Amino acid sequence: MTPGKFIVVEGMEGAGKSSAIKAIEQVLAQHQIPYINTREPGGTPLAEELRNMVKSAAHDEKLTQETELLLMYASRSQLLENRILPALKQGLWVIGDRHDLSSRAYQGGGRQFNEEVMNAIANVTLKGFKPDLTLYLDISPELGLSRAQARGQLDRIEQEKMEFFERVHAKYRELSAKDEDIKTIDASQAMAEVHQEIFNHIETFINADKKS
Ligand code: TMP
Repeated sequence: MTPGKFIVVEGMEGAGKSSAIKAIEQVLAQHQIPYINTREPGGTPLAEELRNMVKSAAHDEKLTQETELLLMYASRSQLLENRILPALKQGLWVIGDRHDLSSRAYQGGGRQFNEEVMNAIANVTLKGFKPDLTLYLDISPELGLSRAQARGQLDRIEQEKMEFFERVHAKYRELSAKDEDIKTIDASQAMAEVHQEIFNHIETFINADKKS
């Protein structure tokens, strides 16, 4: 057990992760809980280089699915060892924009790597480390992608076909339903309602943490 807590926001493109993160920051600030932010892939200088490699659509050669999978976990390893674990040990809370559930959904669901492969790489990289709480913003691929398109240019992964995102979505839902530390929020609701649910989950989590 570390003194800090790791809270992760997950969801497909256009689900509203950025504004969810701001809502969490507000609650932590109200409780005077010190925190840092991370994002995946990325979050350290080296991991940010890996992020550029994985998101760029401008490579001369095709990035293989295997490379994509390994780069996601390479980035996660850098972030975990160099930022997340040291922060938690100091008692800081960490708000993560994506974590392992993204790989499970995009590479496991979208790219169809089987669970055995996913577990093997996750075990090597994370050694059993898990977020304390994950808020999964659930949105249909159609609505999410139309929001992402309205924001501007799509990255390499965002250019995938609809079937890919349908598999990602199905895997997110399947895994979220199985894990009591993952709270699903309907992200197609009005922003005020989404934020209210986020406030409630974070308040409940903080109060339970104070009692333990
Ligand atoms: P975003 O966080 O800016 O949305 O971009 C990250 C992209 O990378 C997004 O399309 C989801 C994808 N991704 C994976 O495919 N696997 C992962 O493990 C992570 C963290 C992200």
